[in-house]
Amino acid sequence: MSDAEVVNNLLTLITAGHETTAVALTWTLWLLAKDQSAQQRVYDEVTALAGDAPIAAAHVDGLTYCRQVINEAMRLFPPAPGIGRLPSAPMTLGGERLGTRTRIHIPVFALHRNVRLWENPTAFDPDRFTAEQVKKRSRYAYLPFGGGPRICIGASFATTETAVILATMVRAFHFRALAGHKPRPVARVTLRPAGGMPLLVTARKGAAANIATFRETRKAS
Ligand code: HEM
Repeated sequence: MSDAEVVNNLLTLITAGHETTAVALTWTLWLLAKDQSAQQRVYDEVTALAGDAPIAAAHVDGLTYCRQVINEAMRLFPPAPGIGRLPSAPMTLGGERLGTRTRIHIPVFALHRNVRLWENPTAFDPDRFTAEQVKKRSRYAYLPFGGGPRICIGASFATTETAVILATMVRAFHFRALAGHKPRPVARVTLRPAGGMPLLVTARKGAAANIATFRETRKAS
């Protein structure tokens, strides 16, 4: 790669890769802070799988509930709340004639809360993402990573990365919501909570080893 290509790729990693992942985890932690039983299920899954050891490649497949939680968080708060397309050739869609200069906006946030696609759409329910439930839905009802030939190139990396980070954090810390605080989502390319996401974070009792692991992982990265 030329220097310019290296710079452009790094920029893509930071903007497309870092921000989206950070925002996905931010909303996930808030939803878990409000739903203590789901948070406990994450904790139980991680400790049953890895005990106190650092999360390794061999554990990743077993983080099923962690992935369900993140998928459900990205349904309610898609890091990319909308995506766009330009038709490559003139076409008719839903009775509308579209030219090659017609901008099409796909409102992912609205799609993910559409009552015709999701039962009780505003409720946080990670069990919507069990393998059986996913099979029952249209592939295009859920688009956190977009779809088609231009689907997010980092989707499977992000799926692994977010599950490992969530598992590491929930094993070491307990998250609680701040009474009376309701974050307001703001769409500025990504969907962020206005003013940040204050949470009450405490080290889990008897989890000194997990916290040490967390610190080591952070140092190493
Ligand atoms: C939770 C994390 C992530 C989310 C929610 C996300 C979401 C998206 C979405 C919605 C698109 C547009 C897809 C479309 O138009 O159909 C996209 C494209 C893209 N993403 Fe991600 N992304 C994430 C993580 C990453 C990571 C980790 C990387 C890189 C390592 C990455 C790199 C890219 C690139 C390069 C594109 C453009 C692909 C193209 O136009 O062909 N993303 N992402």
